[in-house]
Amino acid sequence: MALPLFLPCAAGVEAWLAEEVQRVLPAAQVHTGRGGVGVDGDPIDVMALNLESRLAQRVLAEVASGPYQSEDDVYALARSVDWQQWITPEHTLRVDTTAHRSPLRSLNFAALRVKDAVCDLLREATGERPSVDTQQPDLQIVLHLGETHASLYVDTSGESLFKRGWREDKGDAPLKETLAAAMLAAAGWRGTPEEGGALHDPCCGSGTIAIEAAQIACGIAPGLKRRFAFERLLPFADADMRAQWQRLKSHAQSRIHASAVPIFASDVAFRMVDFARRNAQRAGVEPCIQFNGGDALERPAPPLPDGLRGTLMINPPYGERIDVAGKAARPSAQDRATPDDFFPRLSAHWKRAYTQHPAGWTAWVLSPDMKLPSSMRLKESRRVPMWNGPIECRLFRFDLVAGSAR
Ligand SMILES: C[S@@+](CC[C@H](N)C(=O)[O-])C[C@H]1O[C@@H](n2cnc3c(N)ncnc32)[C@H](O)[C@@H]1O
Repeated sequence: MALPLFLPCAAGVEAWLAEEVQRVLPAAQVHTGRGGVGVDGDPIDVMALNLESRLAQRVLAEVASGPYQSEDDVYALARSVDWQQWITPEHTLRVDTTAHRSPLRSLNFAALRVKDAVCDLLREATGERPSVDTQQPDLQIVLHLGETHASLYVDTSGESLFKRGWREDKGDAPLKETLAAAMLAAAGWRGTPEEGGALHDPCCGSGTIAIEAAQIACGIAPGLKRRFAFERLLPFADADMRAQWQRLKSHAQSRIHASAVPIFASDVAFRMVDFARRNAQRAGVEPCIQFNGGDALERPAPPLPDGLRGTLMINPPYGERIDVAGKAARPSAQDRATPDDFFPRLSAHWKRAYTQHPAGWTAWVLSPDMKLPSSMRLKESRRVPMWNGPIECRLFRFDLVAGSAR
C-alpha cells in the first residue's frame, strides 16, 4: 500500500528536508512544496521517515482528497476511506483541522463530520463505533481545507517529531530540536572533518544545538528514543510489520559510531550546563560533548588540531526571550558594559580569540535582529531566513578570519 506522504516543516526548511527525505528514501521521487515535502511511500517508508527525519514536524499519510463546497462533501470524502484498514472500534480518534481560505463557517463542525463519517462506517461494518480521545488518541486524523479542495491525512507520528524523547531539562528558551537541526543543515554541518569540522555552542542553554550535532556526528537516528502513532495503527500491527520496525531500529542502532569531530558546549549559567549534560546523557551523546561553564565573552576558543575547521553556532540570548548574563550584564565603574553591549563585545572577543586558528572558524548566529551584523561590526557572508516559532529570524554567517572586521 503506497500512499502520498506529506512531511510538513518550518517555512524556509523545505529544501533541506527534501535532501533529507531523499537520503532516507534514495529511490523515491521527492517533491518540494510550500511548508513541506511530498513523497509516495509504503508503511516501511513511513516508519523509516519517522525514525530518521530531523527536520520534518510529522509524517502525514494522505488517505483522501477531493473538491468540496459544504460539510456534507467533507463527510462524503471521509466516508470514502476504508477506515477498517486503519483502526478497530476499540481504537480512539481525534480530528484536527487546518484551513487556508476555506469557505466553511465552522472548522469544528467540519471536523465533527469527519469523526461522524469514521464512526458511522465502523458501526455499519462491525456494530460498534470508536470513541473520541482528545488527549492521547490512537488515530489522529488531519483535515486540511483549502479554498476548493479538502484533504484527509492520517498522522503517523503522533507527538510532533521535534520531541525526540531525550529532553527533560528545558531551561528558559530552548530551541526546538527541528530548528537546531535546520541551523546545522543550513550551515552544511554534517559532523565530519570535511563537512563542518569541530562544533562549539558557547551559549548552549539546555544543549539542543550540541546534542543534535552530536547525534549527527555519531549517526544516531533522532527517533530511536521515542514512540510513534503508527505503532498503534493496523497497517503496522501485523507480525511482519512489527519485525520490519525492529529491523529498522536495529539497523539504525548498528550505524552508531564515535564522533570524528570534537563538540563543545558552554554557558554562563552552571545550572544550564547541568541541564544540557543530563539531556545529552539521555540522548546517548554525553561522552562526545565537552561541557563547560563560562562567559562567552571571555572563554578562549577551544583548541583544535591545525587542519580542522571550527564552526561556532549560537542561539544567543535576546530581548523578548532571555536576558544576557556574564560580563555584559555586570557593569562596573571601569567596565560600563550593558546588555546592549553583548553583541559588539562578543564579536570583539571572536576577533581576538577565534581568528588565530590556521583552518579558521565560521560563526552562525540565529537572531531576530536584522541589523545584527552592524551591531557586531562584522559583515555577514550569508543570511538565511528561519522562524523560531512565531519569531522571524535570520541565521547569519560570519567568517572569522584575520581581517574579518568591517
Ligand atoms: C536563548 S538561550 C539558548 C537556548 C539553547 N539554544 C537551548 O536550546 O536550550 C541563551 C543562553 O545564553 C546564556 N547566556 C547569556 N549570557 C551569556 C554569556 N555571557 N555567556 C554564555 N552564555 C550566556 C543563557 O544562560 C542562556 O542559556
